[in-house]
Amino acid sequence: MQLVTNKQGLNGTIRVPGDKSISHRSIMFGALANGTTTVSNFLKGEDCLSTIGVFRALGVRIEEFPDKIVVHGTGWDGLKRPDETLDVGNSGTTIRLMLGILAGRPFDATLEGDASIGKRPMGRVMLPLREMGAIFEAKDANFAPVKVTGTKLQPMTYTLPVASAQVKSAIIFAALQADGETTIIEKEKTRDHTEQMIRQFGGAITTDGLTIRVNGGQEFQGQNVVVPGDISSAAFFIVAGLIIPNSKIRLENVGLNPTRTGIIDVVKEMGGKITVEQTSKAGDEPAGTVIVETSDLKGIEIGGDIIPRLIDELPVIALLASQANGQTVIKDAEELKVKETNRIDAVVTELSKMGVALVGTDDGMIIEGNQTLHGATVQSYGDHRMGMMLQIAALLADSDVALEKAEAINVSYPSFFEDVASLYQ
Ligand code: S3P
Repeated sequence: MQLVTNKQGLNGTIRVPGDKSISHRSIMFGALANGTTTVSNFLKGEDCLSTIGVFRALGVRIEEFPDKIVVHGTGWDGLKRPDETLDVGNSGTTIRLMLGILAGRPFDATLEGDASIGKRPMGRVMLPLREMGAIFEAKDANFAPVKVTGTKLQPMTYTLPVASAQVKSAIIFAALQADGETTIIEKEKTRDHTEQMIRQFGGAITTDGLTIRVNGGQEFQGQNVVVPGDISSAAFFIVAGLIIPNSKIRLENVGLNPTRTGIIDVVKEMGGKITVEQTSKAGDEPAGTVIVETSDLKGIEIGGDIIPRLIDELPVIALLASQANGQTVIKDAEELKVKETNRIDAVVTELSKMGVALVGTDDGMIIEGNQTLHGATVQSYGDHRMGMMLQIAALLADSDVALEKAEAINVSYPSFFEDVASLYQ
């Protein structure tokens, strides 16, 4: 696909689509609850539709309307053994969280996904769940397809070796089915949407610093869930507004959960003009308006416990850094290697093609500032966030940019190219 290039003056308002992490969890808790759950501003991207498909295959009735999703919850005991292999598509969140849910159900099921899913590590989830008694068989002991043989689970105390909300959430779902209290100690604080939604659906879970405690045997009640916009989708426009000359972009209904707002802190530290105003709070999921305008930026060092708060934004933050004055160092981000693609290699390879001076390291990247972006043929590697980052990069490029595998953006932001176009017309 030929990308739009050589633009100045992006101006206007965007309402980014619903948050991907919260949309997945709204279907999961809706299905596991008793009664009906209505979800508005649900993200109808391919990943969240995979979660709907999986629960339908488990016997849950889910209706899709233009403005909402209605989940007819079955409760834990209403899930049925699927007749078919459960297809998670490209979604790491679906497969990892489903491993925790299915581990304690009294039937067996097999989960599989696309080629990218087949390369992503599942051992990090299977290892702790096995300590609770879970039974799995996986390709080469670590990869999808994974067969789960549901069984009775025991509680445990577990210290997470990686900062991963997916692993944490899978353990929480298993713990909700175990006989007693499970304690999970996080390495660093990661997104807490699972914990928030347990409380919203009438359950209990306690968090004390990095320690989480949850009891098994909990029942949930159906709710009305309002999904805030996805800050990880807003991130592309935050960066566009800052680096493209003569721009001012207003982003409405952006989710502002503090476990997700690392990009705002980074932009402030780089000297970017950004204002944030919280306008609503659904449960503990705040949302608000973010306004950015073209700014003079300075390079910084990004590492430590901010990394989980901006992990999905790092590809576009690398682009942001290329337009700052001075060097930016991203470290402690080795998790980038096990995303939809190896995002250290992918960002370095593709931005290099456009003329950016940057190098990959073991745990991040070193990016030179004040870079001029040139035309090139680039590719997304089938990774939605790579595809969107490259379109924002192309807006600054001085000649044609072609993007291969552009359709990857449908995973989290199907209207992305239309929303970009709305800002320069
Ligand atoms: C997610 C957690 C993160 C993130 C992913 C969504 C979630 O993954 O990158 O896009 O919804 O829990 P990890 O838990 O592997 O860091």
